[in-house]
Order: sequence, then structure tokens, then C-alpha cells
Amino acid sequence: MRFLIAGFWLTCAVFSAETGEKAENWPKCAHVDPYVDLEGWLKLESTAVRKCNHTSVSTEFDESESQKYLWGTKSFAFDALASEKLGPARNVGPQAHQLCAEQKYDAQFSTSLVVIHHNEALSTILRMINGIIEFTPKSLLKEIVLYEDASDDDHILTEHLQKFAKLRNLESLLKIERSEYRQGLIRAKVHASRLATAEVIVFMDSHCEVAEGWLEPLLQPIKENPKSIVLPVVDLINPVTFDYSQSMVAKSGFDWGLNFKWIYLPWEYFETPENNVKPFESPAMPGGLLAVKRDYFVELGEYDMGMEIWGSENIELSLKAWLCGGRVLVAPCSRVGHVFRMRRPYTSKPGMDTALYNAVRVAKTWLGNYEKNFFAAKPNGKKIVFGDISENIKIRNRLNCKPMEWFVENVYPDLAPKVHDEL
Ligand SMILES: *[C@@H]1O[C@H](CO)[C@@H](O)[C@H](O)[C@H]1NC(C)=O
Repeated sequence: MRFLIAGFWLTCAVFSAETGEKAENWPKCAHVDPYVDLEGWLKLESTAVRKCNHTSVSTEFDESESQKYLWGTKSFAFDALASEKLGPARNVGPQAHQLCAEQKYDAQFSTSLVVIHHNEALSTILRMINGIIEFTPKSLLKEIVLYEDASDDDHILTEHLQKFAKLRNLESLLKIERSEYRQGLIRAKVHASRLATAEVIVFMDSHCEVAEGWLEPLLQPIKENPKSIVLPVVDLINPVTFDYSQSMVAKSGFDWGLNFKWIYLPWEYFETPENNVKPFESPAMPGGLLAVKRDYFVELGEYDMGMEIWGSENIELSLKAWLCGGRVLVAPCSRVGHVFRMRRPYTSKPGMDTALYNAVRVAKTWLGNYEKNFFAAKPNGKKIVFGDISENIKIRNRLNCKPMEWFVENVYPDLAPKVHDEL
């Protein structure tokens, strides 16, 4: 089945062999609304089989399409109409380097996917769940925890997800939970992770699609060293066309303001064939996608529950792992696509810069003597009342964590202040 779809996708995406007709000439896809007719929508075949084009063309909208399009871009910052037309399943094809297919993986951890969703599009999350089920070995996938963090009234998905579970007979695989009040992404991740029961947790953003063979390369480094946090390569799903494209294989880092950044590897690095498959160390992580042993995540003190909504929890977890005896790796053979939205549609807490608040908590807990570099980069941080960080300090002491100097010297030398930066 998997093979068949893959073959179809590859041949039909460009050219339909039977009819000799070019894909560019396919008519637009008929629209089935999954919120209204879930059963009908789930029966839709891939666009290659339906021979239709899911991309929105605003001049050809009818009234209901036009409404759906506007609602989608406003609510999710991507084209939900195109996503609904694309349908409930697709195979994005092999995305990893060809040498990845020759790799042998024998790590056998049971795995819980943990997905937080807040005001998410139904089509996107369902296509993601279908892909996970299709492209993850049954022996490894124990459950998918779907945790709804108090979506706004017209975006509540819990009932739709329950209906989906029933229709597809997935009631034992899907753990569907919701919080009545807004936890924020960080606290929601902790609550949801506590519902997981497998050996390994994979946190995944709610608008992703996995590529074949995505999980095994994430588990292998955990078998070699249980104190590993392993990241896939985050590929790009276009928010307008939903085209899947490979991103550059990169490390993650940050600056002294604790702003996340990508660190691109030099081209020469990949000229050595094995570097295209071998996991490599990364000072930090983007945060939306990671695999970690559940007991290790708990040992690290999970995420800082004092943080608000969103931001810096990825830096906190990276520092905690590195400074307290663990490591962060990227597994280049694991590929997961992520819809990069046109803008961040989250709302923050009123009157509060939650990202800065969280960053100050990280600086105060982990940066030690380098705290002054943070406040030089973020002078407004000095005014922030950052709350109680005593739990974080307890974790730091319990795990006997190394000082930030060690991280700068051994993990992330590029972070070291240049001589002229010293004030
Ligand atoms: C689908 O339609 C869009 C918009 O007209 C066009 O740009 C694109 O090339 C078409 N794609 C395919 C595969 O037909």
C-alpha cells in the first residue's frame, strides 16, 4: 500500500502516464469540508489519484471557498482551503539522503507522540496523524497524545478528533485530552507528556508531516546514550501551496539575547558521504520537534513550569541537557516537514512580553557569570519581575550541572564573547 502511493505520487506529480496529460492542466479539486463531512473527507484519495490541483486560485473561488480561504489565513496563517483540498493523506516521498536507506537501525523503544494543539486546522492535524500511522513501524508506535490547549470556540477540535478516532478505529492509539483553560504551549507540553506512557516521547508541532523512515534514526542515538535529545531535520511545507521541500541540514544555536538561530554547516562537510547520515551535535534545538526518553525528560525536570505561553523553553532544555550530563543531536536521516506559517498566530498574555520573561528565567538560572551578556543584549530584561526560579536552581544542584563556561568552551565556542564585546 505504502509503495503504491509512493509510486503514484512520484509519477503523477509531474506527469500522468496513462493519459499523457500534464499535471499543470489538472482542474481544481472539489472541496469537501472536514468539519461538516468528516467521513466524506477521509475517503478522499491523494490529489495524484484524483488528478486535481489543490492550490487556491482566488479568481476561481465560489462563495464558500472564498469564506473558507479568508477564515483559514486569518486563523492559522496558512491556506486551510488548500490543505482541506489536499486531503487526509499523502506520501511526501523519500526526503533523506539516499545513503540513509542503507542504514541499519535496531533501537526498539516504544514511542509516544505528544502533540499540543491550540487553534489548529482540522485537515492539517489529521493528515499529520494519518502520516504518522502510515510511516511509523507498528512495533514502535504506542500512542499519540493529542492535547488541546483551550482553543477558541470556533476552533475546538476535540470532538472532531474523537469522531475521527471512532471512524478509523484508532480509539486505543489516540489519547485525546483537552485543557479547559489556556496553559500555554510550555505547560501544556509538560501536562501532555505526563499522559504519555511509552519509553520515548516525541514532541511534535501540530502542523507537521513525517517522511518515510522518520522515527528510527531518532531512536538509535538514544539507544547508544539514553541521555540524548535527538532532533529530525525540519523540512519546509509551504503555507500557500503545501508543497514539501527539503531544508538545509543545520545545527541550532542562539545569541546572548537567547534568540534562536540556525547554524549552517559548510558545504564541504557533506562531501564526506557518511556525514550525510551520521548524527551530529547541536548546541540548541528549535523546540517543536524532538525525541527524548521519558524518564530522562523527567530527570531533567521537564520544562520550566514557571514559563509563560511560548519562547526560550527550547534554549532552557538544550542548556539543561548539555550542562547536566546529556547531549543534543541532529539525526540527518530523520525528516519531518513543518508548515512554516506566514506569521505567528498566537496571542500572548495581555500586557506581558512572555518571550522576554521566559528568557530572563533562563538567564537567571543557567548563564551564571554570562548573565551580564544577556542583559547587555536585552536591557529591558532588567525590569522584568521573573518569578520564582527556586525549582530550577534545585534541578541544577540535584543534577550537579556544569557552569556555562563549560558549555561555551566545549559545545558552542562561537558564543564566546569577542574581545571587543567585553564591556
Ligand atoms: C496548480 O495551480 C496553481 C495555481 O494556478 C499553479 O501555479 C500550479 O502550477 C498548479 N500545479 C499543478 C501541479 O498543476
